[in-house]
Parts: sequence; structure tokens; C-alpha cells
Amino acid sequence: MLVTAHIPVLLEETIQALAVQPGGRYIDCTLGGGGHAAAILEHSSPGGQLLGIDADPEAIKAARQALKPYNDSILLINDNFVNLKAICYKYDFVPLHGILFDLGLSSLQLNGDNRGFSFKHRAPLDMRLNADQELTAAYIVNSYPEAELARLIKTYGEERYSRQIARRIVQERPVRTTLELARAIERVVKKRGKIHPATRTFQALRIAVNQELEYLELALKQAVDLLGFQGRLVVISYHSLEDRIVKRFMQQESKDCICPPGTPTCVCGHTASLRLIKKRIITPSPEEVENNPRSRSARLRVAERVITQEEHYKIVEKLCSTAEVEALGNAWRRPSILKKLRQTYTAS
Ligand SMILES: C[S@@+](CC[C@H](N)C(=O)[O-])C[C@H]1O[C@@H](n2cnc3c(N)ncnc32)[C@H](O)[C@@H]1O
Repeated sequence: MLVTAHIPVLLEETIQALAVQPGGRYIDCTLGGGGHAAAILEHSSPGGQLLGIDADPEAIKAARQALKPYNDSILLINDNFVNLKAICYKYDFVPLHGILFDLGLSSLQLNGDNRGFSFKHRAPLDMRLNADQELTAAYIVNSYPEAELARLIKTYGEERYSRQIARRIVQERPVRTTLELARAIERVVKKRGKIHPATRTFQALRIAVNQELEYLELALKQAVDLLGFQGRLVVISYHSLEDRIVKRFMQQESKDCICPPGTPTCVCGHTASLRLIKKRIITPSPEEVENNPRSRSARLRVAERVITQEEHYKIVEKLCSTAEVEALGNAWRRPSILKKLRQTYTAS
């Protein structure tokens, strides 16, 4: 089977949104085939550094190959971005100039013939990003009670026919492959426009198997604390469930008070940790959608960390005195940016 390369979505817009600068330090939380990472490294040269994370070991392998020319400036970690903070502290990779999330799946995963993400190829119903995860799509499809299955398909797939689909799946058990599942769905849902009837159910299963929404919320919270002075948080999402989480998070974090409307005086004590750079979402141009149809649903949101130089310096100081960091002693420790910052601060 032909596995087409992954084309990075909103590439120029991402580099601009991250305000990539020479010598900057960046995290790509969803490395995939390394397309965005390569552009970040290109624009942050000389001296730029990138830590790339992907839950899928195959993605790490592909990205390592694609990023060979930047070998001295990268650190690639096979892990889930839900562990973002721990990873950054372990590798002394803070504070950051920018953090990128390009959510969902890469073409390598969608077109791969054994992952079970696509209803176009016959494959076991797996859908795990990493084989170490226990829960598979096959387990959900063949073991969940009908009502729970319907709820999952409705919540994570926003599927109108969730109850009919769940009933049919239960009737057809055991459902072993992607094609068997797609056929079961086709028997109860007719094609709507260009969208295949199984699209929403496959999305729902993938989200459930990989706990995508829970992990996104947890990772966004961690990301803010890792950003330094004027650091940028950029998120590209591909469906409304993801985008809603990103939008709410950025809006809430950009407010000084989050008390319910009508509260006479503020009791929440919340202060803004982010500033929205663009109030509106950034979407691909018609040319990009034509060249890369996968980009059609992409929505980019960007925000900047609200923090003073002094607070930034305190984070660095705290980090540098951590015993764990002291013990680590790897090539990523005490980067020039930290030294420079300390000098700037001491001098003023
Ligand atoms: C859309 S692709 C990224 C493509 C990449 N920006 C590029 O230019 O090649 C999304 C990637 O994120 C990874 N991913 C999804 N959820 C993840 C998570 N919770 N933790 C780590 N990686 C994740 C997937 O395995 C996939 O490789």
C-alpha cells in the first residue's frame, strides 16, 4: 500500500503564530512526520532547539529520519503529551519560547494498513497510538453495553444516529476489522454528502481509545507554566470537540476574573496567564485546502504567556536549583538562554 507523506497544515501561519526566532527553544507536542518541527528548526537557526514528543513510536522513527539534518538541535521523546511538564523538567527544557500542538493523526497513521484508524483499509480494530496502551477499539466495540456504546458514539462522534449504530454493532458482534465495522454502520446510516457514514463513529472510538480530550485539557494547563516571557502557545485542531476545549481554555486563561457573571466583587482571585494574539481562528486558504484536502477542517488558535521578566527569571532560578535537574547533567542543561537571562537580570 502507498503510504503518502504527511503534509504539514498551516505551516507558514504556524511559524508566524509561534513567532519563531533564532536561538529559541520550542516543543512540538505532536511531532508526527516532523514537518512543522523542521520548519521551526529552520527558522530558529542558528542556536534553536526543539524537543519533539509523539505517543506513537512509528512517528518518532519517521521524524528522526526527516530531522536528520538538525540532529544536534533536537531531542525526540516517545511519550504522551499528557506528561509534558514532567518531560520538560526531566530534560531541563524550560522556559520555552513556543509550544505547538497539531492535534489528531498524521497521514502516516491514517494511511498505514495495520493501525485500524481508517475505514478505507482492512485492519484489526486497534486505534491505539502506542501498543503499550491497554484499551483497544475492538474491546470497546465488542464488550461495551449497547447504551454505553451509543453514548460514546454520540459524545465523541457527535453522531445523530448513535443509538441505531450501537444497536447494529451489538447485533453483529464479534466485529473484528475496520471494514466489518464500516459495513455494519453503512447498513443503518446512509451517506451524507461527501462524508462516509462511518466517519463519526471512527472518530469517537479513536478519541475514547486514546483519551484524546482529557489529555488535551491536562496538557494545555501544563503548557502555560512552561512558557517563558512572551512565549507562544499554538494549537491546531481538526474537529469541534477539540477546538471547543482550546477556545474555552484560552479564553478563560486570558481573563483576570472568572467569577460567574453578576458576582458583585471578584472572589475567584484568578489572574490572566495568557493574552490572545488573534481573537479569530486562523484557517487554511482555499489553495491550501485544494492542495491538501486533509487541511480543510484545521483551526489554529494562538496565545502569548503573560509573565514579567522578573517572574520568568524566578522560574529559571527555581529550576536550576532543583536537585533532579542538577543530577541530570545532559547536553540540554543550562542553555545559553538561561545564562543570558541571568546576566541581563543581574546587570539591571
Ligand atoms: C497531525 S499529526 C502531527 C503532524 C506534524 N505536525 C507534522 O508536521 O508532521 C499528530 C501527531 O500527534 C500524535 N499525538 C496525538 N495525540 C498525542 C498525545 N496525546 N501525545 C503525544 N502524541 C500525540 C500522533 O501520534 C500524530 O503523530
